[in-house]
Amino acid sequence: MSLPEHVRLVEVGPRDGLQNEAQHLSVAQRIELVDRLTAAGLGHIEVGSFVSPRWVPQMADSAAVLAAITRQPGVRYSVLTPNLRGLEDAIAAGAREVAVFASASEGFSWRNINCSISESLQRFVPVMELAAARGMAVRGYVSCVLGCPYDGTVAPEQVATVSAELLAMGCYEVSLGDTIGVGVPSATRHLLETVGQRVPRQQLAGHFHDTYGQALTNIYAALLEGVAVFDSSVAGLGGCPYARGASGNVASEDVVYLLQGMGIRTGVELTKLVEASHWICQLLRRDNGSRVARALLARAD
Ligand code: HMG
Ligand code: MG
Repeated sequence: MSLPEHVRLVEVGPRDGLQNEAQHLSVAQRIELVDRLTAAGLGHIEVGSFVSPRWVPQMADSAAVLAAITRQPGVRYSVLTPNLRGLEDAIAAGAREVAVFASASEGFSWRNINCSISESLQRFVPVMELAAARGMAVRGYVSCVLGCPYDGTVAPEQVATVSAELLAMGCYEVSLGDTIGVGVPSATRHLLETVGQRVPRQQLAGHFHDTYGQALTNIYAALLEGVAVFDSSVAGLGGCPYARGASGNVASEDVVYLLQGMGIRTGVELTKLVEASHWICQLLRRDNGSRVARALLARAD
């Protein structure tokens, strides 16, 4: 299969990244992060989550963040909504796009959202209805597509079933999450071949955590399978609070560098992205998880 000319990146650092950072940022700092990412040319930014603040305290006050970011025309700003309450709060805060999230494994579904997979899909029905009535776009996530921290192996057919259900409910795209970063390219290709039999590849995105250092190579494998949308996190921030040991998403800078080098457009300005990356790492007092950012920053010294 030929490679795409353009890849759409979904920047999940302000959500997937910050939700698992020990240090909690202020609303003003979270807003500045989103604005810096907008300035770097990201076309889609996940700004926060409307989940229980008891479960994920880092994402409390996402309404205040969403309400005060500087929206650039043409840029999509979305938030996670696990249930109707989340969607109603998101709408009140000015959300125009949301994401629902299910799991391909029962163990993770219970730990993450406290219900079975089928209950979660039932819970999304009124969410999808209200979103449709408001003309809002809804993205879907499926977690644990290449393995589960609780159940172990996950069958690609199960991923295909949950993905197909989310699309049938009205999600415009399903992002396949390797939540614990265990996948390797052969497994990624096998997964996409299987899911691709039930779901058009143009409606699939890749969401690779980099726990075992395989994310970039999995992205390349997914590109070869016709996927042209990838989620990534500035500086490789984050992880998942309900998947112990899970490290951050693949770093956005590393993905941009890879794609640029392959002649694939992303619309992102790498220099500005690295500036944002350096800024957020200083704020969080953490090492930069992006190899590309580290290399470029070392050259600038
Ligand atoms: P529950 O306890 O089963 O639900 O939680 P509940 O309806 O009994 O409500 C419990 C409490 O939460 C109540 O408050 C509700 O009012 C409140 P209390 O009486 O205890 O004070 N509540 C809410 N508060 C704010 N916003 C809401 C909301 N709904 C209920 N929308 C629930 C169910 C889904 C709420 C909970 O399990 C939860 O919030 N989980 C957080 C899940 C999460 O954010 N996980 C991380 C994101 S997913 C991820 O990272 C994976 C992804 O990146 C892809 C990948 O990598 O695989 C997307
Ligand atoms: Mg994730």
